[in-house]
Parts: sequence; C-alpha cells; structure tokens
Amino acid sequence: MKALPVFVLGLALAGCAPKRPPAGVQGDPERGKVAVTQYACQSCHMIPGVPGSKVYVGRPLEDMARRKVLAGGVPNDQAGLVRWIRDPQSVDPNTAMPNMGVSERDALDISAYLLTR
Ligand code: HEC
Repeated sequence: MKALPVFVLGLALAGCAPKRPPAGVQGDPERGKVAVTQYACQSCHMIPGVPGSKVYVGRPLEDMARRKVLAGGVPNDQAGLVRWIRDPQSVDPNTAMPNMGVSERDALDISAYLLTR
C-alpha cells in the first residue's frame, strides 16, 4: 500500500489544476485569460480569476457556462460568444459594449476561458 499516499497527493493536486474546458469547447483558456487583460475587458466587467476593481458597466462575466442567452438575445454557445466578443453591434446595434477589434483566435481563446469559469 505504499502507493496510496502518492495517489492521494495526486488527487489533491488535480483539484488545484486549471479547470478543463467543457467537452466541445475549442481554444486555449490560459491564453484567453491573458488576452482578456490585453483587451482590458476587466475595465467594464468583473471577470473571475482576473484582478480588477469591482466595475458594473457590463455584467459580471461569471457562470458563463451556465447562461443560456447573452445580451442581445444571442444564444450562449461558443459561436455566439465569439460573435458577441468580436462584434457586439452585429448582435445588437444599440449595445453599449464597444467593438474592441478582437481577433478571431483571441475571441475563441477568451470564450474558452469564460466558459471554464
Ligand atoms: C466599455 C465597456 C466594455 C468593455 C471594454 C467590454 N465590454 Fe463587454 N459588455 C459591456 C456592456 C455595457 C455589456 C452589456 C451589453 C448589453 O446588454 O447590450 C457587455 C456585454 C458583454 C457580454 C455579454 C454578457 C451577458 O451577460 O450577456 C460579454 C460576453 C462581454 N461583454 C464580453 C466582453 C469581453 C470578452 C470584452 C473584452 C474583449 C469586453 N466585454 C469588453 C461593456 C464592455
């Protein structure tokens, strides 16, 4: 039974590892986390795991994986999220969220990050 403590330690470490994206989610969540700060999304949104002040210009971007519908009525699947992040006005012409010029790859990675929070 010498292997047991190692096994238990392994389980404990696994609990601290970054969450895996849900099945079917593409992109790199770790890269997405960096991209979020590069585009300064946290200047308008509270984002889990991203330091910043408590701002409520846009809604907090937490529990994104559990939301069914986004602003403007766009379905909250990864494609809808990417579309919103890249060009919110294409979903809702009157939205207050600016078009941030986010690249396709960055939007994919950001959506992967948000969907793992
Ligand atoms: C200037 C402020 C501002 C910035 C910067 C900003 N947003 Fe937003 N965002 C908003 C506002 C306001 C809304 C709400 C839009 C609405 O309801 O029409 C919103 C909505 C959203 C939504 C939909 C949330 C929901 O609950 O439906 C997502 C996702 C989102 N933003 C992601 C991002 C990401 C990712 C970035 C960085 C690339 C970003 N935002 C940058 C203001 C901003």
